[in-house]
Amino acid sequence: MHPVFLADNIIRHRCIHLCHSPPHVLCSLPVASQSLYITLKKEKRERTKRFHPVWCLSLKGMIINMNNKTVFVDLETENLSLKQISMEYKEDVFRQFSDEDVNKYLVDAEPFVSMEEAEELINWYTSPEPRGHHRWVIIRKTDSAFLGTCGYHNWDNENNICEIGYDLYKDYWHKGYMTEALQEVIKFGFEKMGLNRIQGFVHTQHEKSLNVLFRLGFKQEGIIRDKHFFRGSYYDHFCLSLLKREWNTTDE
Ligand SMILES: CC(C)(COP(=O)(O)OP(=O)(O)OC[C@H]1O[C@@H](n2cnc3c(N)ncnc32)[C@H](O)[C@@H]1OP(=O)(O)O)[C@@H](O)C(=O)NCCC(=O)NCCS
Repeated sequence: MHPVFLADNIIRHRCIHLCHSPPHVLCSLPVASQSLYITLKKEKRERTKRFHPVWCLSLKGMIINMNNKTVFVDLETENLSLKQISMEYKEDVFRQFSDEDVNKYLVDAEPFVSMEEAEELINWYTSPEPRGHHRWVIIRKTDSAFLGTCGYHNWDNENNICEIGYDLYKDYWHKGYMTEALQEVIKFGFEKMGLNRIQGFVHTQHEKSLNVLFRLGFKQEGIIRDKHFFRGSYYDHFCLSLLKREWNTTDE
């Protein structure tokens, strides 16, 4: 069943909660003049502890940005252009996420085996704003090479927290590109998205990724035990975070 919700219900209550049960149902919600596409897992109506009934939507594990305005723009660094992911890059995205080396520590999903999976990912990242996720492709300025992607997901707009994600194609590792790209992405997160906390989860054996976050000033908080179940085993992940007040200090 495709549930339909009125825009003013969502805007008035400005509250979306999570639940974690499949299957996903794709539906579109009118929010002001925009269409907000949301992957619903389940919907139900609940009464809050206060007095309003609130629509509770499962949003693939995220609380979406309900500011009802566009936020995300393309970015630039000295050597890189960060552009919104789009179908123009579907072959690159497929190459990236079907590669065993790139996927080695990404134990939350199997490597891609079909172009449709790349298209599905791009569709998800390019749903109309407001949305709680964004992905930039990383393009080298000198030759327009596609180096990888980076971005945000699981934007918790109530607490100003977002999760950072990133990947480079293996030919471009160990050249400093990701650190350069993420510096700009983090600046954007704190200054334009209004974030207070950016967090990242890293497989405990993924030294390269840990180094990237440490270089950017992230602090390691602890281990999320058995965070992902993949190919019959559970995998611990480090949880790291960068707070705005720390970033202001390290940025000087
Ligand atoms: C995680 C990942 C992005 C890290 O890549 P990376 O190349 O180590 O990171 P950077 O692009 O920031 O490069 C930094 C490295 O380049 C080195 N480097 C070499 N030349 C450099 C230069 N001219 N300028 C800056 N750094 C340079 C740095 O010393 C650093 O190496 P170190 O960590 O051994 O000190 C990459 O391994 C990857 O994409 N993996 C697959 C996807 C993935 O696992 N994503 C993360 C999920 S949590």
